[in-house]
Amino acid sequence: MSGETVKASEVQHPLMRHHVSRLRDVATQPEEFRSCVRRLAELLAYEATQDLALEPLEVTTPLTAMTGSKLAQRIALVPILRAGLGMVEPILDLIPSSEVWHLGLYRDEATAQPVEYYSKLPESEPSDVALVLDPMLATGGSACAALSALQRWGVERCQVLSIIAAPEGIEEVSRLFPDVSIHVCAIDEQLNANKFIVPGLGDAGDRIFNTQR
Ligand code: PRP
Repeated sequence: MSGETVKASEVQHPLMRHHVSRLRDVATQPEEFRSCVRRLAELLAYEATQDLALEPLEVTTPLTAMTGSKLAQRIALVPILRAGLGMVEPILDLIPSSEVWHLGLYRDEATAQPVEYYSKLPESEPSDVALVLDPMLATGGSACAALSALQRWGVERCQVLSIIAAPEGIEEVSRLFPDVSIHVCAIDEQLNANKFIVPGLGDAGDRIFNTQR
């Protein structure tokens, strides 16, 4: 990966490396795969939300009154169907006030281009911050399509949270959306001729939903 504008952080945490390795294992069954995705999504969200804005909140404890804090912005979780669904619940647990806006995108097998099949983003009142959720960032086409839709909606700050990414996908998102920060658990070696991430973990959607054929 090169380029001054690339804003991607690979979180170097032992728990991440442990759980990502379980995801990669071809013998890992869907139940454990889903659990690992949930754990990794939670760790990633913890990392990605470090600088969320706060505002003061007056709190009365059993002992006294004090000034605490509350989140100051509207936060949207934007899972890319299908695989992004596996990351929603643990992040909603961390940020219960989040809005969830689903985007349906699949990658055409022949062209590797994203095809949109579901979006209900409204035309006004955009969220302040959007977290795009997708376990895999391969060519970056799907993430860029999601970011374009969020930009059209008017979201000021977008972040991409992916479990694994190819350098090519990070470059593409960084090139088209230099202000978007990308948070990943692992940056893999490359894409293969079929645009699959290598070494990768296979197809996350199929492994989450047990639809591998
Ligand atoms: C996979 C993955 C991403 C996309 C990544 O989805 O979950 O959405 O491909 O590839 P890209 O960066 O090259 O766009 P897929 O098309 O397999 O759909 P699914 O989640 O329904 O399985």
